[in-house]
Amino acid sequence: MVRPTSVFACSACGAQTPKWQGQCPQCAAWNSLEKRAAGAASAPAGRAPAAGPRSLTGTSGADAERLMTGQDELDRVLGGGLLAGSVALLGGDPGIGKSTLLLQVAAHVAQSRPVLYASGEESVAQVGLRAHRLGLIAENLTLVNESDLEQVLALAVERKVALLVVDSIQTVQLGETAALAGAVTQLRECTARLVRFAKSSGTAVVIIGHVTKEGAIAGPRLLEHLVDTVLYFESEAGSRYRLVRATKNRFGAAHELGFFAMSDTGLKEVRNPAAIFLARSPEPSAGSIVTVMRDGGRPLLIELQGLVDRMRFGAPRCVAQGLDANRVAMLLAVLSRHAGVSLQEHDVFANVVGGIRIEETAWDLPLVLALASSLNDRPLPRSLIAFGELGLTGELRPVAYGEERLREAQKQGFKLALVARDNAPRKALPGLEVRVAGRIGEALAAAFSAPPDLAAVNPPERTRGRS
Ligand code: TYD
Ligand code: MG
Repeated sequence: MVRPTSVFACSACGAQTPKWQGQCPQCAAWNSLEKRAAGAASAPAGRAPAAGPRSLTGTSGADAERLMTGQDELDRVLGGGLLAGSVALLGGDPGIGKSTLLLQVAAHVAQSRPVLYASGEESVAQVGLRAHRLGLIAENLTLVNESDLEQVLALAVERKVALLVVDSIQTVQLGETAALAGAVTQLRECTARLVRFAKSSGTAVVIIGHVTKEGAIAGPRLLEHLVDTVLYFESEAGSRYRLVRATKNRFGAAHELGFFAMSDTGLKEVRNPAAIFLARSPEPSAGSIVTVMRDGGRPLLIELQGLVDRMRFGAPRCVAQGLDANRVAMLLAVLSRHAGVSLQEHDVFANVVGGIRIEETAWDLPLVLALASSLNDRPLPRSLIAFGELGLTGELRPVAYGEERLREAQKQGFKLALVARDNAPRKALPGLEVRVAGRIGEALAAAFSAPPDLAAVNPPERTRGRS
């Protein structure tokens, strides 16, 4: 058998064919096949060779390179930086700061490795202006305003970039897909193409995707299963704080949170976010309580508010912001059945201050306290903190990481804690009195019998973002 002396290898994905073709049969890139001596490494110089089958024992897991983004908060959410060859999707409302954050990341990575920032949204001059204003000048950072994805990838290959940022997926298109940029097929095709590119070249790719209020489905949601990591950029209207939430992460813990503050010199990370959402009015007010949630591996103090109002129209309403409304309805039943507090004739509103969503069940007890406080128009002590899950039988159940939550509350100056019996700390925490309760009735009694002078302590120090 005669062995061919040369093969044609694709510069985008490394696939080989014996014959020249206009389009790579593997990744469908146009004009990407280059002649190569047979037997030569299939991958173009500077790129990771496509991995063949390997035994798991032969993969250490440690050889994967991680690019640090220059923002510890983001690195943590990513599970320790951007993994080479991985694809991350950053979703968020328009104007929340996605481009700003990624430009900062791009400029940081570009201090050591070449980076391509492809913006279909803004012109090079606009992005450049922002980069100058933020002092993000890096020689290795290439900006391009291009909506043809193949052109972007060709440039990425040419510059041998370690990081490619696509801003945004809604503005790029692949020539062979006969649909407009932003159409569902385009979004999917372009993302799939970027994933192939990342895997074959070892380039870390970050894709920006807009989420619109009504069209959440037409945007990044559709792409979540294609990529390795899905990050959402969230904020409360009018707040300068931003949080990045990992909803999916193949290379780290999901549900991590990273905190940022928008300033006039770009996004700054908030390293100690424990109390950034605590900006309570100085007077004690009925319906407000602080709880300690634990999201993303850290305790976070957060204010819950409940408002109970006489029903105005036909059926009582139950509206929850940042909490699961079904669970709120369940807690109303528990309150009525096991504590004799009936809210059947009332509209009930529950709110998490700061625009955060709490996914755990530790807010059961504090919410019930807040609602009772609002109903009776009796403020809870300002220095009271509570957490715990309520069961359908009215029992108060412990939640995970109780001691860690209590320690954070103590650190922030809270004086009284109300928790489930099994959440009592093994060693007393100086300055923090911990009361325990076994049932919802006991918990209500304990909270409202707290000495009123507790209401007069100094509000806890607000921790500000380090800038
Ligand atoms: P941007 O990154 O363009 O948002 P996105 O890409 O998510 O649409 O951020 C836009 C907003 O951020 C804009 O309203 C102005 C504000 N901003 C600042 O407050 N400070 C800054 O340094 C920058 C660059 C933007
Ligand atoms: Mg933008």
